[in-house]
Amino acid sequence: MAIQEKHDKDFWSFKNASKRRGAHALIHYPAMMVPNLQGNILDAIKQASPKSQKVLDPFVGSGTVLVESMNLGLDFSGVDINPLAVLSCLVKSGPYFIDAFKDEASKLIARIRADGITRHEATFIGREKWFEEDVALGISKVARNIKDVDALWARRLFWLALARVIRACCNSRNSTYKLHIKKAADINPEADPVKAFVETIEAYKKHLKDQTVDWSEKGLLKRGRYQNSVSITVGDSTSTLEEAGQLFDVIMTSPPYGDNKTTIPYGQYAFLPLQWISAEDISPSIEASVLANAHALDTASLGGSAKNATERAEVLRNEFESVRKYLVKLSSKGSGVKRFGAFFGDLNPCIEQICNSTNLGGYHAWTIGSRHIEGIRVPMEEILEEMLDKRGMDTVGRIHRSIHAKKMAARNNLSSTMNTEIIVLAKKSAKKS
Ligand SMILES: C[S@@+](CC[C@H](N)C(=O)[O-])C[C@H]1O[C@@H](n2cnc3c(N)ncnc32)[C@H](O)[C@@H]1O
Repeated sequence: MAIQEKHDKDFWSFKNASKRRGAHALIHYPAMMVPNLQGNILDAIKQASPKSQKVLDPFVGSGTVLVESMNLGLDFSGVDINPLAVLSCLVKSGPYFIDAFKDEASKLIARIRADGITRHEATFIGREKWFEEDVALGISKVARNIKDVDALWARRLFWLALARVIRACCNSRNSTYKLHIKKAADINPEADPVKAFVETIEAYKKHLKDQTVDWSEKGLLKRGRYQNSVSITVGDSTSTLEEAGQLFDVIMTSPPYGDNKTTIPYGQYAFLPLQWISAEDISPSIEASVLANAHALDTASLGGSAKNATERAEVLRNEFESVRKYLVKLSSKGSGVKRFGAFFGDLNPCIEQICNSTNLGGYHAWTIGSRHIEGIRVPMEEILEEMLDKRGMDTVGRIHRSIHAKKMAARNNLSSTMNTEIIVLAKKSAKKS
């Protein structure tokens, strides 16, 4: 499957990719993949291996691979530790009841407008810092009335819309995914969550309609429901996949590329919306501890714990040539080895589990970003390929693409090398000892 050879890296950069539409447009989430790019790769895998039907994304995020899999009528499973990501995927997987959604939205908006109660629906440390008083009360008004909506599918749509509103109306800067207070002059005390919610719902009507038309024309939706199977689980992917014991034909994913604390803090990004959204409407298995403070989710994520990190780096040094070559470059005095060990010490068993969950002849497509530790580029692709190879996965291609959106690097104060990413394609050929 030499699809990467057909085109140069500018083709795969999807410089002119159209704006996100349909389900892809429902949420902003950090480090979202380019939908067309993943869709084209999925298509190519399907052509190379027509029987491929079951797709897994073990770091599913906002659900880019989910929607692209649904586009092709595939069965999909996704896992993510972040409840906001899981909510996004649950919404995108449907049902798509357009007329009922419009009815529910009109009733909800009428109730919100008639609601004269002045009561907070969320109590958490820092609420006064991250929200002006009237803004927090406005969000509470929307949240209180969403709780009274009967249908779970409708509540989930409204919660997702409210998540966007909360991010837009909070006092955290838009220029970073971290919680970072705005300058006083940039805070808008007039921000109006009810107005923003109504506008978001209007936009949702269009996105849901676009998606419904597309999938109905392809025969993928019947009475608003997707015809194949979708399963979304909240939790750590290593333990979730081990417990599930299922096999997949395609693994398509973009993992974190370092711990969420020092790279992209997906947990911090989700923290404020998750203070209002009813966790039980996402999943009964969300642990309260991951929502306890702004850092808890990132600490529970891949690489979030520094426990035994130096020892874990040493184990990897002995096992993988690519790690040995990299670690000689890191100073033994700094915290580099520890930071490396914390993340790759978690990634390695996760990769092992993902490979165990792959059918013989199955394909992987890993989209990976670039990261530096102590100013030295981590050769993520080499380490990943060696970790995959050890579990019977042969690398069959690498796509290098440039990221034209400078926003990502700027948002996170990452170095300019963030503007390239690599997609590693691998195939499970045989079991290796
Ligand atoms: C690069 S993002 C995925 C973005 C996604 N491809 C998209 O298009 O939206 C990586 C995801 O890995 C998740 N993650 C981190 N540690 C995890 C773990 N141990 N188990 C499952 N998911 C985890 C993060 O919450 C984040 O959503």
